[in-house]
Amino acid sequence: MSQQVALITGITGQDGSYLAEQLLDKGYVVHGLIRRSSTFNTARIDHLYLDPHDPDARLFLHYGDLTDGSRLVTLLERVEPTEVYHLGAQSHVRVSFDEPEFTGDVTGLGTTRLLEALRVSKVPARFYQASSSEMFGATPPPQNENAFFYPRSPYAAAKVYSYWMVRNYREAYGLFACNGILFNHESPRRGETFVTRKITMAIARIAAGLQDVLYLGNLDARRDWGYAPEYADAMWRMLQADEPADYVVATGTSYSVGDFVRMAFEHADLDWEKHVKFDPRYLRPTEVDDLIGDATKAKDVLGWQAQTFTPELVKIMVDADRARLGA
Ligand code: NAP
Ligand code: GDD
Repeated sequence: MSQQVALITGITGQDGSYLAEQLLDKGYVVHGLIRRSSTFNTARIDHLYLDPHDPDARLFLHYGDLTDGSRLVTLLERVEPTEVYHLGAQSHVRVSFDEPEFTGDVTGLGTTRLLEALRVSKVPARFYQASSSEMFGATPPPQNENAFFYPRSPYAAAKVYSYWMVRNYREAYGLFACNGILFNHESPRRGETFVTRKITMAIARIAAGLQDVLYLGNLDARRDWGYAPEYADAMWRMLQADEPADYVVATGTSYSVGDFVRMAFEHADLDWEKHVKFDPRYLRPTEVDDLIGDATKAKDVLGWQAQTFTPELVKIMVDADRARLGA
C-alpha cells in the first residue's frame, strides 16, 4: 500500500492531538499546521514529536495560519497529503461573542481558504471538516443529519458557513469532503475554559486546598458529552468510506451542566453546594439549551458508536486532574 500522509490543522488542540496519535499508530506520516507564538503551544503533542533528523520521525510541524491563504497553498504543495483533517478554529462559543469578526475569519473563511488551496494546488486529498452540533442551536433534540441548522452564536454561524462550503466543493469540484457533525467531546486534554474541564480542574484544586470557589454560569443547558479519542476515530472512518458524506457523531444521551457538576463533585467526595457559585459573566447572549445527537448513520455506514458515556467520562476527567495535582 502507498504511504498515507495526513495534514492536520489544529494539531495542537484536543482533537488534533488524539487524531495525530491514532494516525501515527496506523503508520501514517503526519504533518501539522501550527501557529507561531512567543510561548510553546505544543504541549498536547510533545510526547509524539521526534527531531526531524531522526530517521524514525513521522510527525512534522509547519508554521502557518488559517488567515493566510497563500501559505496554505505552499504547504499543501510541499506536503502532498492524501488526507486533510481541518480541525483548526477559534473554537470557544462564549469568546465568539466578544470576537465575532475574528471568529468568522478563522472558523468560517479559514475553511474556504483551505478548500480553495486544495482546489488550486490540485492535490487530490480527501478532506474532513470539523463541523459542530452548535450548528443545530435552537433546533429541538434529537438532532440528526437532516435537522435544521439554527445557529445561536457567531461561532455556530461560522461553522454553518464552513459546512456549506464543504458541501459546495464536494458538489462543484467532486472533492471527497466530509462534514463530521460532532457533539461535545471531552477528555483530560480538553481546553481549560470549556465547562467540563473547568469543573474537573477546580475539583482537583479544591481537593488539594488550592481553591475554594468555582464560578459558573448557566447550569441548566444540556449537552451530549462523549469521549474525545473515540470521536477522533470517527473522523478517520469518514475518510475511509466509499463515498463522501456528512455524519452526526454523538452518544445519544444528554446531561445538564448541573448534572455534570454533581457527578464530578460526588466522585471526589466533595459537596458541590459548598463550592459552586453563580457568575453572570459566564452567561451567553444566546444559549444552546439542549443537544442530543442521533448517530444512527455513523453506526450503520462507518460501524462507529460511542463506548464511553458521560458518567464514565466525568470519572476519567476528575481522576486525571487529581492525579496531575497529586490531590
Ligand atoms: P481546540 O482544542 O480549541 O483546538 C483548536 C485548534 O485550532 C488549536 O490547535 C489552535 O491552535 C488552532 N487554531 C486556532 N486558530 C487558528 C488559526 N488562526 N490558524 C491555525 N490554527 C488555529 O479545539 P478542539 O476541541 O480540539 O476541536 C477541534 C475542532 O472541532 C474545532 O474546529 C472545533 O470547533 C470543532 N468541534 C469541537 C467539538 C468539541 O466538543 N471539542 C465539537 C464539535 C466541533 P493553538 O493551539 O495555537 O491555539
Ligand atoms: N465555558 C463555560 N464556562 N461554559 C459554561 C460555564 C462556564 O463557566 N457555566 C456554564 N456553562 C455552560 C455554557 O453556557 C454552555 O451551555 C455549556 O456550559 C457548555 O459550554 P462549553 O463547555 O463552553 O461548550 P459549548 O457547548 O459552548 O461548545 C463546545 O462544544 C461545541 C459542540 O457542541 C465547543 O467545543 C465548541 O467548539 C463545539 O463546537
